Amino acid sequence: MLRIAVFVSGRGSNLQAILKNVSHSQNKVEVSAVVGNKPGIGAFDIAKDSKIPTYLVSAMAKEGFLTYTQLAKTFSELNINLIVLAGFLKKIPDEFVDMYPDRIINIHPALLPSFGGKGMYGHFVHEAVYKSSAQISGATVHFVNKVYDEGLIIAQRTVDISRCSSSEEIADEVLKIEHKLLPYVIDKFAQNKVKIRNKRVYIED
Ligand code: GRF
Repeated sequence: MLRIAVFVSGRGSNLQAILKNVSHSQNKVEVSAVVGNKPGIGAFDIAKDSKIPTYLVSAMAKEGFLTYTQLAKTFSELNINLIVLAGFLKKIPDEFVDMYPDRIINIHPALLPSFGGKGMYGHFVHEAVYKSSAQISGATVHFVNKVYDEGLIIAQRTVDISRCSSSEEIADEVLKIEHKLLPYVIDKFAQNKVKIRNKRVYIED
């Protein structure tokens, strides 16, 4: 059983896509925890509707929030074996990254290594893509390391944006891709078909 914790900061459409896929995927995947950096987000409502425990995490000690050390303890009790960042806007502390080598993944709404790095999230990404007049965009799922958006790339999918006339239109097209790509990659982890050889990622058929 692949037990995953999904980290969120907003509406949770990627979480929703994961749950939809899990509910009918024959591979054994369970979303065992949803973690956010602030209360009252739409993603927590989605989690609660699916009776998934939610947790607040903060790098600084804060009333009602777990520290990352406390979260790691909770994760070991839940037997979490993959951490999925789905719109999580905070940087994961280095010590936490070290606890889960090659077991933390993130979805980025552009084709890394382009249009990535600190400050490149949400609408900023699509505005930069639009301004560049790029004719394609897409989504990237990559391993999380200690530098924003620089972990090894696991999977990418492109979308033609040559007809888009705003960054919002690009965002809409890319989000559709994300909702397919992230569940696909999680499924491949569940089948143990994500391999790293010579610092390159291969997804087996
Ligand atoms: C997605 O565009 C994702 O690529 C980015 O943040 C957004 C999260 O959206 N990291 P949602 O909260 O999953 O709807």
